[in-house]
Amino acid sequence: MNRDFIAHTERYRERVHAQIAGYLAKDYPHSLYEPMRYALQAGGKLLRPLLAIVSCEAVGGRLEDVLDAAAALELVHNFSLVHDDIMDNDDLRRGRETVYKKWNANVGILAGDAILVTAYEALSEITTQYLPQILREFNQGILEVCEGQALDMEFEERQDVTPDEYFYMIDRKTAKLFSLSCVSGAILGGGSEADIRALRTFGMKLGRAFQVQDDLLDLLADQETLGKDIGSDIQADKKTYLVIFTKAHADDRQLQQLDSVRQKKKLGTDDIRQVIDIMQTVGAIDAAQKEVQSALSDARAALNRLENNEPRRLLAGLLDMLEHRTS
Ligand code: IPE
Ligand code: IPE
Ligand code: MG
Ligand code: MG
Ligand code: MG
Repeated sequence: MNRDFIAHTERYRERVHAQIAGYLAKDYPHSLYEPMRYALQAGGKLLRPLLAIVSCEAVGGRLEDVLDAAAALELVHNFSLVHDDIMDNDDLRRGRETVYKKWNANVGILAGDAILVTAYEALSEITTQYLPQILREFNQGILEVCEGQALDMEFEERQDVTPDEYFYMIDRKTAKLFSLSCVSGAILGGGSEADIRALRTFGMKLGRAFQVQDDLLDLLADQETLGKDIGSDIQADKKTYLVIFTKAHADDRQLQQLDSVRQKKKLGTDDIRQVIDIMQTVGAIDAAQKEVQSALSDARAALNRLENNEPRRLLAGLLDMLEHRTS
């Protein structure tokens, strides 16, 4: 953990929480507002709001300029997660039952929808000078997240997904929201075209690294620390970078072993170990880690195009922190 970054952003976290809580005061019907609150008060890392705030500072803006957008970004992220857990059939999120598991899929669909609308409610507070531009960015960004999620599901049914198709998919389902966060901060902070361009690239590259890491953590993390079910991607036959690489490099016996693990109802520690062993043997883990490093180094390069020193250091701190993340 980067202590500098944690210390500097503690105040931001509190402000974002307070801002979001302001949108969750309604109570009736309980079957709508309770799951919304449950999803939003579960203690995520708040990466997207923090990216927006520090990006805003990086171009000379202030916290107040970006707070509504920061709250909207966390709301959009949570809308996508509540629906994602239904699509991925996952029971655990942030160490607790997922919304759809605790209630049911219908409750999850509706709570997710209402969280998205709440994001737009937050956005409607943005100063009129930047509102059209921010709305265009959000609309385009969220549509791309949906495109990425659609491809993620399509790929479950395909066995010939290429690395290029994989990167296209994760750039939409995950990196786009990172990039939208940085861009929103840069626009609202009054950044130049060049600043906005640099932060857009930074967000895309950081987000790409983040999703390849997420794929790695699905197998390598400690479940309690991660707060999500280990091996979920294997069971759903997700075409993660690891799986695509392994399919291209494993022999028939290894592929058969993988297949028989995948078909189990529940994966135990030995099953996970077996999958990791195969992936390690064929070089998939190393290859994925290399992809993470390559995307992070592209992100670092994009940061160097920013002029303002201090916030640039903070963004670099966030990057370093994510490089070694365990959750
Ligand atoms: C999870 O994102 C979804 C992915 C893009 C992999 P985070 O890991 O940022 O989730 P929280 O908000 O911290 O729980
Ligand atoms: C996350 O992909 C992408 C979105 C939620 C849009 P994953 O499905 O891998 O995320 P986790 O692992 O469930 O958090
Ligand atoms: Mg998921
Ligand atoms: Mg998913
Ligand atoms: Mg995942």
